[in-house]
Amino acid sequence: MMLNMSLTTPFAVYVHWPFCLSKCPYCDFNSHVRHGGVDEARFVRAYATEIAATAARVPGRTVSSIFFGGGTPSLMQPASVAAILDAIAKHWRVAPDVEITLEANPTSVEAARFRGFRAAGVNRVSLGVQSLDDAALKELGRLHSAQEALDAVAIARANFERYSFDLIYARPRQSLESWAAELRRALAHAGDHLSMYQLTIEPDTPFFGLHKAGKLVVPNEDLARDLYDLTQAICVKAGLPAYEISNHARPGGECRHNLVYWRGHDYAGIGPGAHGRLTIDGRRVATETEKRPESWLMRVEAAGSGLIVDEKLTAGEAADEFLLMGLRLAEGIEPARYTALSGRTLDPKRIAILREEGAVETTTDGRLRVTLSGFPILDAVVADLAA
Ligand SMILES: C[S@@+](CC[C@H](N)C(=O)[O-])C[C@H]1O[C@@H](n2cnc3c(N)ncnc32)[C@H](O)[C@@H]1O
Ligand code: SF4
Repeated sequence: MMLNMSLTTPFAVYVHWPFCLSKCPYCDFNSHVRHGGVDEARFVRAYATEIAATAARVPGRTVSSIFFGGGTPSLMQPASVAAILDAIAKHWRVAPDVEITLEANPTSVEAARFRGFRAAGVNRVSLGVQSLDDAALKELGRLHSAQEALDAVAIARANFERYSFDLIYARPRQSLESWAAELRRALAHAGDHLSMYQLTIEPDTPFFGLHKAGKLVVPNEDLARDLYDLTQAICVKAGLPAYEISNHARPGGECRHNLVYWRGHDYAGIGPGAHGRLTIDGRRVATETEKRPESWLMRVEAAGSGLIVDEKLTAGEAADEFLLMGLRLAEGIEPARYTALSGRTLDPKRIAILREEGAVETTTDGRLRVTLSGFPILDAVVADLAA
């Protein structure tokens, strides 16, 4: 089936900056510490090269959002961010109301750069606050205190139209009472958006080894579920309901960039280890670049791009991916779009069973969505529907 792009179809650009000051023991993102420093100017030239190569494959798009993620993009010089934004604007039209987000660690050094990021064009920051408890921050290997994080939030509020921050919960020894108090305190500093992730123990991280050795105990399934339910209840009351499993916003405050992923629109992935989804000649193409920063750099310098995966998805793959991403959203999916992508209809019998179990519901305008009680078992719901 052929997919068409219109001028108003959202199109996002994700830029990955893969460096951090230190590696947090829970994190398995593509992030690296370089004690000898980073040749930032050389990297920025490579980003511009990769942007040009990507734009040549998907010309004529209008960029509706740009996201600098990491790693720690707030370690970049504002001039580097400006140069990358210039490269994007040179090759694509940029929407007048473009959302430009930058992920920032809430240390004072980085907050001091916020004004520079704003001048470069960034209009939204997402801060990795993680916790408002100093002991927990230490255990998470963070380089900032709770007060420093709140100071960075205040500087973000003063400099940007919009800001968000991340919290990690379901941490070792966390009780329902202590999380409720911490979350309420955090909400007093929230803008229009908040991301809350349950701590996951990722393979090949120091936390994984500690967990395996019984030295790091995380809440069991029941407590984790109670913590999740409590999070939903407190956030709804505060006017920031979940619009996605881990993301909360006031109405209109949703992260437009993330909506591009979850609504199944196109995005270009720029930088080491970045993933992209591009519609080329009517087919959805999955892209992925080399992960190791210096290898990526050399590939781009030698070949013009760091691509290591460049694969046309089958109709079935594209449709399953749409289901997997779209059902993360509280708004759910349009079954007709699934049918257009896959040529199949969702099995009404399976939907009926899941509806009886209370895991999904159909809205009055015909959308299919996962219920609050279905979210914790989302993977099983998707597997059932896609099968
Ligand atoms: C790429 S990190 C980025 C931002 C920034 N470097 C920072 O740490 O402040 C994005 C977010 O993922 C979350 N995260 C990373 N690893 C996680 C894990 N194992 N469990 C839960 N959340 C995690 C953290 O909340 C983090 O802020
Ligand atoms: S959580 Fe953020 S700062 Fe920590 S290692 Fe991961 S990307 Fe870097």
